[in-house]
Amino acid sequence: MNILVTGGSGYIGSHTVVELQNAGHNVVVVDNLSNSNEKSLKRVAEITGKNVDFYEIDIRDFNALDSIVGKYHFDCCIHFAGLKAVGESVQKPLEYYDNNVCGTVNLLKVLQKHNCKNIIFSSSACVYGDPKIIPISEDCPKGNCTNPYGQTKSMIEDIMIDLQKSDSNWNIVLLRYFNPIGAHSSGKIGENPNGIPNNLMPYITQVAVGKREKLNVFGNDYDTVDGTGVRDYIHVVDLARGHVCALQAIEKKCGLEIFNLGTGHGYSVLEVVHAFETANDLKIPYVIQPRRTGDVAVCYSDASKAEKVLNWRAEFDLQDMCRDSWNWQKNNPNGYDD
Ligand code: NAD
Ligand code: UFG
Repeated sequence: MNILVTGGSGYIGSHTVVELQNAGHNVVVVDNLSNSNEKSLKRVAEITGKNVDFYEIDIRDFNALDSIVGKYHFDCCIHFAGLKAVGESVQKPLEYYDNNVCGTVNLLKVLQKHNCKNIIFSSSACVYGDPKIIPISEDCPKGNCTNPYGQTKSMIEDIMIDLQKSDSNWNIVLLRYFNPIGAHSSGKIGENPNGIPNNLMPYITQVAVGKREKLNVFGNDYDTVDGTGVRDYIHVVDLARGHVCALQAIEKKCGLEIFNLGTGHGYSVLEVVHAFETANDLKIPYVIQPRRTGDVAVCYSDASKAEKVLNWRAEFDLQDMCRDSWNWQKNNPNGYDD
């Protein structure tokens, strides 16, 4: 298939481009590089032996997108482009609504104009809010997102659902990711956060590499195995392969489908710390801090729908994720800036 990948030079996008190219698809990436580096796509080409057509474009720019989508005959769009920092979204809500929601509406208009009515969207487990059912299946009602970032994901889902209802020629797959970590086993591509990492694994790897003194563990008084928060960590390569599998649903003209992409297992913060220490023979100093505002205690998936319908399931375990995260960080202590 010919596939337009928005946000394809970012963390999940670059890993997905590898898997798409390995599966024989032709990929064109558009990204405004607001949170990524074009070098990631050079590294992708080193891994796959295939160059990636790249355009530095903001998805809010109708004319620029129009000319690209007009030039290629895309069979499907995989839409990663968006801002994703939860804390920043609280400070700058308008930027988040403009970039994520307005950007997506613009993208959908361009795709519609060129009759490319197939799209896979990067949604998030955060749309479940404080989940009513654990493990979380796709039937679990959506909840209150505690921040504008989460609201944009929920709103974009609703926009896409309305669009598909209005025109059954659209095939739309909403993928609700749980917590992606890890990196490609080559160590050539990985997560490259700006500034102080918000998320657990990049913080741990920065402690391991000596950039940060110790990990802050946010809360040890939750009702969980050891009091720390529980999440469903998924290897980014498994997540990337989930997108390749989701193309099958598009090919079968699925209408609107929603899938969780997770492993179905929950691990606490301290379990992740200890798994990282075991996998890499390192010590991670940590200190317990108060709970972080907006965090839920427990969030992990029922991932059986994706297995049943897409024949996809996560293959890598937590040790693999910890090994590959560290392999990326130690080989690229400054990300793509080396
Ligand atoms: P990322 O920041 O590495 O990738 C997003 C990419 O989109 C970046 O390369 C950025 O430059 C680009 N971008 C942002 N706004 C753009 C715009 N207006 N026009 C063009 N490009 C733009 O993040 P990621 O972790 O790879 O996440 C990819 C997608 O998955 C995002 O939509 C994110 O919200 C979603 N998601 C991520 C997680 C996670 O934990 N990483 C969890 C759930 C959902
Ligand atoms: N945590 C710490 N210390 C840190 C960072 C995180 O203890 O320095 C804890 C958190 O309190 C939480 C767990 O580690 O219990 C995971 O936190 P992350 O920030 O890594 O991930 P979240 O589950 O909060 O959120 C992530 C993404 C969201 C996405 C969500 C579900 O940041 O964008 O997963 O996919 F919506």
